[in-house]
Amino acid sequence: MTSELSLIDKAKFISAKRASQYVESGMKVGLGTGSTAAWLVKCLGERVRDEGLQIKGVPTSTRTAELAREVGIEVITLDQARWLDLTIDGADEFDSDLNLIKGGGGALLQEKIVATASDQMIVIADAGKEVGTLGAFPLPIEVIPFGLQTTKALVEETLVSMDVLGRDTTLRMNGDAPFVTDEGNHILDLHLKRIGDARQLALVINQMPGVVENGLFIDICDRVIIGFGDGRVEIRDLSEGRVATERFDFADTDNLFADLVD
Ligand code: A5P
Repeated sequence: MTSELSLIDKAKFISAKRASQYVESGMKVGLGTGSTAAWLVKCLGERVRDEGLQIKGVPTSTRTAELAREVGIEVITLDQARWLDLTIDGADEFDSDLNLIKGGGGALLQEKIVATASDQMIVIADAGKEVGTLGAFPLPIEVIPFGLQTTKALVEETLVSMDVLGRDTTLRMNGDAPFVTDEGNHILDLHLKRIGDARQLALVINQMPGVVENGLFIDICDRVIIGFGDGRVEIRDLSEGRVATERFDFADTDNLFADLVD
């Protein structure tokens, strides 16, 4: 089965598979959103079914909630959980300090709330997500519908005094209509190219009244698990200052994950 996957999907799959091994029975787990996080949910579903793993999952989007239920994970709300043992999620970019850009899938608000309410956050990603400096991926910010154009203009004006290379902002669309988040808001994508001071930018953007949240995750992620198409997995742990490399044998997964692809 895994031989039919593209190299990038193999990379996503093995990072998710490795991360699923950090989950133990009894845990309350934040479930991320996106294609890499979808692998994670499927891997956890396998463990629930085959090993009797007992977990409660807090999804970060309606998409993830549907998938989690489908694969047999018990889904609860964040308010029911109050606090989580672990959140595992994808990212659009990460740097050497494990700071992130997230929100390419439009779920950054719930993702940030859930990750922040967790003892630990593990990011799962293919190697292409690593950058020297954040900003090549457009930074998503979630804004309320009221006064949208005014907020957009204010954001553009503010960017003039920030340490960034580009200043174009675009309203994310879904066909002919603005994209709507799970919270009923819209997304502005900021094409900054290079973010000189991500910490400062995150604070300044969140000062604006129409902005709900930005996609910079600063000091939230504890560990990144990077998958490579050739089967290598690299685990970078910020607190332990450690990098471990392992090799994943795809042959072992062919039967085990035969039903995970669809
Ligand atoms: C969802 O809003 C995002 O934050 C995703 O986690 C991020 O875009 C990574 O998605 P992929 O795993 O699909 O690349």
